[in-house]
Amino acid sequence: MCSESSATVVTIDGPSGAGKGTLSQLLAQRLGYRLLDSGALYRLVALASMNKGIAADDEAALSSCASTLDVEFAPADGGVTVLLEGVDVTMAIRQEHVSMRASEVAAVELVRAALLQRQRDFAVAPGLVADGRDMGTTVFTGAQYKFYLTASAEARAQRRYQQLCERGESVDLAVLIEDIQARDERDQSRATSPLRPASDAHVVDSTNMTIEQVLEQMLATIDA
Ligand code: DC
Repeated sequence: MCSESSATVVTIDGPSGAGKGTLSQLLAQRLGYRLLDSGALYRLVALASMNKGIAADDEAALSSCASTLDVEFAPADGGVTVLLEGVDVTMAIRQEHVSMRASEVAAVELVRAALLQRQRDFAVAPGLVADGRDMGTTVFTGAQYKFYLTASAEARAQRRYQQLCERGESVDLAVLIEDIQARDERDQSRATSPLRPASDAHVVDSTNMTIEQVLEQMLATIDA
């Protein structure tokens, strides 16, 4: 496997709902690079630990669970199938209670340390697009291109509101805004790898931009 130094690494960090997932996927496709969805790894630790009956505050057991995680990201039609111990958990890791547990396990320093090398191993030639919260600040500090994608809490909540309405779920926009603000506060104030732009990151505010406009701006930065 190639090391990070022989692969071009593009990092995309930022708060929930800023469009990182979609943009990382589009950017990886356009560049022909591999994709790392680091949030999925935290979600997998959450699901695996719940399956094993590990308590949310048992840091040693959570860390052991993270370092022995048996996962596979298999390319599927227009996306990726996530396998945990051979079982398709692509949808299961997106459930609300898994999201909650993922945010708790992501605050455990031992878990973050246990996932570090696993994330770095994704960097193979010709390149990697790494999506997360600490890709540019901790995991790939030497990345050639770093982006910090953000948008106002209101714009991010509005996007989520539209997604949920399209799925026929009834939600309150004001509650979504409050949830997003609470999650931002938790991500930005945690002791280990808090969410913040790397000093050499290009900050992109997508509040008034379409996905296509953001993608073109990122590609132009990389070309330049
Ligand atoms: O991006 P996401 O919602 O799938 O992330 C799931 C959780 O993991 C979320 O609480 C943020 C956290 N996370 C993190 O702390 N560091 C990362 N590099 C990626 C995600």
